[in-house]
Amino acid sequence: MSLLELENVSKSYRIGRRVSLAVEDITLGIDPGEIVGLVGESGSGKSTLARLALRLLLPDSGEIRFAGRNLAGLGGAELASFRRRVQIVFQDPLAALNPRATVRRLIEEPLRLHRIVPPGEIEAEIRRLMELAGLPAAYAERRPRQISGGERQRVAVLRALACRPEILVCDEPVAALDVSVRAQILNLLLALKRSTGLGILFISHDLAVVRRIADRLTVMHRGRIVERGPSETVWQAPTHPYTQALLAAVPLGEPGAGRRRRSSQPTAIA
Ligand SMILES: Nc1ncnc2c1ncn2[C@@H]1O[C@H](COP(=O)(O)OP(=O)(O)OP(=O)(O)O)[C@@H](O)[C@H]1O
Ligand SMILES: [Mg+2]
Repeated sequence: MSLLELENVSKSYRIGRRVSLAVEDITLGIDPGEIVGLVGESGSGKSTLARLALRLLLPDSGEIRFAGRNLAGLGGAELASFRRRVQIVFQDPLAALNPRATVRRLIEEPLRLHRIVPPGEIEAEIRRLMELAGLPAAYAERRPRQISGGERQRVAVLRALACRPEILVCDEPVAALDVSVRAQILNLLLALKRSTGLGILFISHDLAVVRRIADRLTVMHRGRIVERGPSETVWQAPTHPYTQALLAAVPLGEPGAGRRRRSSQPTAIA
């Protein structure tokens, strides 16, 4: 049993009379201290799965459990506790952060909302968190538009971390960042996993990024999981044609790719 688990979960969207199945029969678990990478092309159902895991959507069938409790049945104090213990970081921090709030206020909000520390310790906790993410203390007075994209994403991560979550869902957290800034965020997530035992569901369409950070890889294609396994195994010896095609799309010069080209061409995507 995993801390966060999805069991045979399906979800479809209805637009007018049309029904499209976005997530189909997914079973997946995330434990403290591990990073599970979820890769797949645009439209494969990754964000839908993230929203289900956060109980922003309810599944049509199947069950999602946190600490053994079905999310569909949570209410009151239990739901509030779940809302603290499972956090999300989105791709676009500019959209996710209130543009008028200073960095201090953005971090202070969740600290107060969930009463993480006594009021007298809030200032020190903000400083501690900013230091953890390598943000200069003076940035506390800046607003989202007055810092760089990478710094903004670090603030978004800190807002989530302020809640002292057990699971963090990252939906394309570095897709909008350039390579060097991307590495800073990935290193921060890896350090957090090691120091706090945070479990992370890391979603990306970029297999090379996910491989760097994830302990296990899960590949989605058209709403279904088509491959899963330890990152290195999937990377070195992908079995599904779709995974092989994803790997073939990784540029040869990708830093840290370190994988020999296979001579055989990937078969066409089904
Ligand atoms: N609110 C919605 N209403 C109707 N259809 C939706 C909705 N959200 C997503 N879909 C559809 O569900 C499918 C899965 O979408 P989803 O956003 O989960 O994919 P994704 O893997 O996150 O893609 P991307 O990499 O582009 O973010 C797509 O076909 C999408 O068009
Ligand atoms: Mg998405």
